Amino acid sequence: MNPTIAVIGLGYIGLPTAAALAAPGTRVHGIDVSQRTVDMVNRGELPFVEPGLEQALQSAVRRGDLTASTTTPHADVYIVAVPTPFQDDHQADLSYIEAATRTLSAQLTGGELVILESTSPPGTTEKMGEWIDEERPDLAGNVLLAHCPERVLPGRVMIELVKNDRVIGGVTPEAAVAAQQVYRIFCEGELLLTDARTAEMAKLVENSYRDVNIAFANELSQVAAKLDIDVWELINLANHHPRVNILQPGPGVGGHCIAVDPWFIVSAAPQESRLIRTAREVNDAKPHQVIDQILAHAKDVENPTIALLGLAFKANIDDLRESPARYIAKELADRLPEATILAVEPHVEELPAELAALSNVRLSPLNEALEASQVVALLVDHDLFGLVDHAVLADKAVVDTRGLWRNV
Ligand SMILES: NC(=O)c1ccc[n+]([C@@H]2O[C@H](COP(=O)([O-])OP(=O)(O)OC[C@H]3O[C@@H](n4cnc5c(N)ncnc54)[C@H](O)[C@@H]3O)[C@@H](O)[C@H]2O)c1
Repeated sequence: MNPTIAVIGLGYIGLPTAAALAAPGTRVHGIDVSQRTVDMVNRGELPFVEPGLEQALQSAVRRGDLTASTTTPHADVYIVAVPTPFQDDHQADLSYIEAATRTLSAQLTGGELVILESTSPPGTTEKMGEWIDEERPDLAGNVLLAHCPERVLPGRVMIELVKNDRVIGGVTPEAAVAAQQVYRIFCEGELLLTDARTAEMAKLVENSYRDVNIAFANELSQVAAKLDIDVWELINLANHHPRVNILQPGPGVGGHCIAVDPWFIVSAAPQESRLIRTAREVNDAKPHQVIDQILAHAKDVENPTIALLGLAFKANIDDLRESPARYIAKELADRLPEATILAVEPHVEELPAELAALSNVRLSPLNEALEASQVVALLVDHDLFGLVDHAVLADKAVVDTRGLWRNV
């Protein structure tokens, strides 16, 4: 008999996972604390942009295979995909996982499988077991617990959910095997079994690997600027070495994964993770260097108008979380009250709250921003910005953090 599956947290990860599980006719129930999200899902509407998801959601909802609510019903399998941000001291904030775990505990009858998908420090899945034990001592630990981290790329989630290999870590081997059967429902990639701690760490290590490599490129951009060398040409030439593949620099590292997850390693093993910490610091310093470049140009203009191209944390998506571009916009607006900041972000319809609250920042169409500005900073390499006619930039000061307009 097919298990019933509850997916807790219907965000960028939970909702596509729920839709993928429901696609072959599995009975899936989604739970979210946001009434708006639940209402939208039940109407087959997307709360965020993700190619291919709307179709999958609509057909699952129409067939009755996917429903949603703010309350948690009983299910054979629970998949928890709630946020894990970090706190001011860079420790992971596990309060969302704890809240979801304590709530689902009330429904357990024994023998259910609880899978944590949220990116988490080593030991978190075991901690869920402790919370369940506290809530439900009557079950005597008769719950299977596993961690299955997510490594999908926003914008390609519906493809990568199916195609990617997955690491599945059980608190017990039995739990790992049970979770493997769940992911077999929609996953065509390899399902690699391990213990829960190693699975938790694998996800953190993957993102730290990316962070360290981006930090190398960002550091090179600083070194090259100091030595009056074109960093884009430099990296291009170095990458002709058969075993060198340097990444491209940018305005900093954003998103809720690469900019966050390495800190979970640093806080778990501070003495042993010096390179990982330094990479984080290098990448966190990069937005300040971009701000300094923009300020240097703006100081030559009275009441300058500054076009900031892109607010998302990377190209061609609408996700602004932890975005360095958004941070740069806020800092500039605060430091240049006399300037007009025209933010161009074609993937959103309104500014995030902290920018909307400022009188000198406006969301602007691309052409208007380019026409009105004396200083243009390209912060995100959205495809649209690659189409900008270089002649329009000729009389402006340009800060191109992504090398998209190298030859301007
Ligand atoms: N988005 C990605 O690309 C990505 C990739 C890999 C891993 N992750 C990890 O997946 C996890 C989820 O990330 P996301 O991007 O889907 O987050 P998200 O913010 O898009 O979605 C989380 C959802 O959980 C809901 N929620 C919060 N507390 C809840 C609770 N107690 N009960 C029910 N619902 C609750 C929120 O309302 C929200 O809709 C995080 O740990 C993240 O680090 C995300």
